[in-house]
Amino acid sequence: MTEAQKKVFLDPTDQFYSIAQPLLCGVLMNSAINKLPEEMKSGKGIPFSDLLPESYEAVELIEDGFRRTLLNDWLPNKLPSRLLSRLQSADSQPLLFLDVCCGRGSFSRELAKKYPSHVFVGLDNHKPSIESAREDADREGPLKNVFFLLQNAEEVSTPGTFEGFQTFWNGLFKEKYPIPEGCDVVTFQTTLHDMPDPLALLRTFRKSLSRTGVLLVTVCFQVQ
Ligand SMILES: C[S@@+](CC[C@H](N)C(=O)[O-])C[C@H]1O[C@@H](n2cnc3c(N)ncnc32)[C@H](O)[C@@H]1O
Repeated sequence: MTEAQKKVFLDPTDQFYSIAQPLLCGVLMNSAINKLPEEMKSGKGIPFSDLLPESYEAVELIEDGFRRTLLNDWLPNKLPSRLLSRLQSADSQPLLFLDVCCGRGSFSRELAKKYPSHVFVGLDNHKPSIESAREDADREGPLKNVFFLLQNAEEVSTPGTFEGFQTFWNGLFKEKYPIPEGCDVVTFQTTLHDMPDPLALLRTFRKSLSRTGVLLVTVCFQVQ
């Protein structure tokens, strides 16, 4: 094996580790092959919920190494310093992160473990993924500072309108901090490019960002 192949196939700590790539290609093709001709003509695309359940496992596996890089490299190095110092402080006002189309939520859960004083919301419209994210959060702790929201991304607005979030927030902070008007960090991982209208979605998420919030978009191992 070449050094590059070893990174991709053998080293789970490498950002390009992607042992599940062949698995993903296989399950995507199996899920979609019959619908492709029609969907290509209509331009509507195939909803994630129509794919085989194995697709979700493959996506989760495929992104593992990259998520670790985001957590350990991007966040500490690229977040604006005003947000980073708050993130690293246990006493500051809590930051609110929102991971849009979070799948099974492992990025939010990893963040929640690393930064227990801050709050991480994962949103997805695929019920089995959100249920699995919630179960894992209960098992891993339970993690009290992570919240999974079953919702269509196109219909998102300010955090105060997320179903059940107000109760969750007040349960965590009692009266100490009011529910924030917007999120401090919104992330889209390997997902914006799959959306039928990415620009409209970005406009929608402007509403859920705080005035000084930042947006992180990753597209196939690139961070923007
Ligand atoms: C390629 S996966 C990425 C999952 C996750 N971000 C990751 O990095 O592992 C795309 C995700 O987007 C979700 N999704 C697609 N359309 C959506 C929509 N309109 N609203 C909310 N979630 C959506 C799917 O259910 C799926 O979990």
